[in-house]
Amino acid sequence: MTQMAQKSLEEGTISDADFAAIAGLVREWMGIDLQPHKRTMVASRLSKRLRATGYESVNDYIDYMHSPQGRDEQTRFISAYTTNMTRFNREGHHFEQLANDILPDLMAQARRGKRVRIWSAGCSSGEEPYGLAFHVLDACPEAPSLDVKILASDIDPEILASAKRGVYPASSVNTLTNGQATKYFEDFEGSNDRKSVCDKARELISFRRLNLHGDWPFKGQFDIIMCRNVAIYFDAPTQSRLWRRFGEQLCPDGLLFLGHSEGIGPEHADLFHTAGRGVFSIDTSRIGDRSANATLHMGN
Ligand SMILES: C[S@@+](CC[C@H](N)C(=O)[O-])C[C@H]1O[C@@H](n2cnc3c(N)ncnc32)[C@H](O)[C@@H]1O
Repeated sequence: MTQMAQKSLEEGTISDADFAAIAGLVREWMGIDLQPHKRTMVASRLSKRLRATGYESVNDYIDYMHSPQGRDEQTRFISAYTTNMTRFNREGHHFEQLANDILPDLMAQARRGKRVRIWSAGCSSGEEPYGLAFHVLDACPEAPSLDVKILASDIDPEILASAKRGVYPASSVNTLTNGQATKYFEDFEGSNDRKSVCDKARELISFRRLNLHGDWPFKGQFDIIMCRNVAIYFDAPTQSRLWRRFGEQLCPDGLLFLGHSEGIGPEHADLFHTAGRGVFSIDTSRIGDRSANATLHMGN
């Protein structure tokens, strides 16, 4: 790539052919729909990857990602095109509903020996699954000694590593309510500017890299699936397939939580019933064979 071409990418200009090639890969690998108004973002992120790998042509760069030597770059490319914005207590009404209406009963069942599984699908830097863990612990402090697990998954290994690390600025932790900031965090390396999630909450969570657009190696169903502000980036067929697969993955009384700008399309309206703002229960009589799921071990 000439210096001029690299400069124009940096400035957000990309040819139709290069945009189509990158958007096609992002759709194929991640299910994400990059609309034409994202051209500037696509160009500037691409220019960083080309600079980092030393490729001059977009086609050569794509060929490299498809080669065995290019596997790590494929991962970096995926990280480059994810949107990881999140925060503690995002769409806090979901956590209120969990705390008031859902977790007291679910945790009572866990105390009687029920296996409880919760999935934060597209967990980004971890604020969502840790928030779930804090509410589980509020409802049932002994949850780590019961059969209660939270799966936190994301396609982006870089953001998943930061979720696993579980260290956040005090200013973001302090937005938590009900004393959770003091109950579930400790100072990180002696500084009270950064806070680290306590072990009790960590014990409940397994972090896994998982592409929602790929295979799901699961064994068993979930009581709660939270997939908020993820499918909004997917194209319509990917969304539609996702709702169906979530339906198959939910327990009979299971609940699906979606982001405020996401909804189940009309083609699946008979499969789910509204059970709150952005909360859906599943009509299991509409799902066929629910026993055909493969295996995912969510840690110990
Ligand atoms: C905007 S964040 C949402 C985080 C959190 N759920 C929330 O609502 O605050 C979207 C996350 O979805 C992840 N993501 C995007 N495409 C994905 C895919 N195909 N499979 C799994 N995760 C994906 C991104 O990496 C990103 O971390």
